[in-house]
Amino acid sequence: MVVDQALEETIKFERKKPDVFGDAHPKALLREVVEIGEHLKPLDNQHVISSDQFDRNTLLQLFRLAAKFESNPQRFSTPLQGKILISAFYEPSTRTRLSFESAWHRLGGDIMSITDRSTTGIAKGESLSDVGEMFNNYGDCVVLRDTNAHSLFEMVKSLRIPIINAGNGIDEHPTQAMADMYTILKWRPKLTKATIKDKDKIRVGVIGVPNKMRTVRSLLKIFAIFPQIFSEVIIMHDGSNKEIFDGDQLERFKQAGLPITETTKVKKLIPELDVIYINSIAWIGDSVTHFQKKMHLDDKTQLKDSAIILHPLARGDELSTKLDETPHNWYFSQARGAVFIRMALLTCLVQRAERVIDVI
Ligand code: CP
Repeated sequence: MVVDQALEETIKFERKKPDVFGDAHPKALLREVVEIGEHLKPLDNQHVISSDQFDRNTLLQLFRLAAKFESNPQRFSTPLQGKILISAFYEPSTRTRLSFESAWHRLGGDIMSITDRSTTGIAKGESLSDVGEMFNNYGDCVVLRDTNAHSLFEMVKSLRIPIINAGNGIDEHPTQAMADMYTILKWRPKLTKATIKDKDKIRVGVIGVPNKMRTVRSLLKIFAIFPQIFSEVIIMHDGSNKEIFDGDQLERFKQAGLPITETTKVKKLIPELDVIYINSIAWIGDSVTHFQKKMHLDDKTQLKDSAIILHPLARGDELSTKLDETPHNWYFSQARGAVFIRMALLTCLVQRAERVIDVI
């Protein structure tokens, strides 16, 4: 075969990436958290609707199980054998749908996938409650994404198998928040300790709109389950949105002990942050809405040397690709880790955790 020079360059690729993509971090988290399988029991046969429905112990064990999967992905290939996942995505998705499906496949289960509601009875006016009744007979677990926040609650009415909210309008995206928190704990495993010294607490900036973005709403709810790890959580915005919190949303976070503040003086603050979480786009109705167009991170942004950047992705102009090859890039690790957190969650929901805990 004759390959010209340009094509030869194009077809070469590097399989190796910096350590942030590797398995050192999940192993460190694994060592830090002692396995207590009992704490995973509350996940048995549960619906996953909101990121604040579980307690700290359950989440820590879930993160531990995810780290176990991530540290040794080849070891666990069949715990979901004989189980069927119904993956129903009525709104576009790259990461959530494919990582859920990858997670289920990696564990040996089978999948039925719907990516267009018009191919189901919904197009004929069938109710989501009736669709849910059918799902009970066809599968063992449902993952649902829908632009309409209420669809989830309609389907829940008739379900006798667990459903996972994979994003319901602007309301919640709990498994994304689990993946976000898992990433932070892999980065600093000592944050899993019950007591954290003041000097070890982290200062986090969240660039996003808590009342309009499901990722940010769910992230703050999960932060509120771990309030002791933060010296401050600062919502950073450009002032273009009049209201950035719903009703008592801010007050509830404060009542949970989260040291949360807000500011529009972003530039001065960024060099002092340990973690910067950024998201500027949200799918609302039938299209993408851009928030806070003035917010932007690139390789010129002054960051602490040790600072990490998180982004749920998809990204817009707010996050330059020039940061991808820097040690600040933990957003790819965050997306990669989502597969393992979903493996852990799915295994527990369909009551197969006993096949993977106590296994080294
Ligand atoms: N993070 C996230 O929800 O990405 P997708 O929209 O691609 O699923």
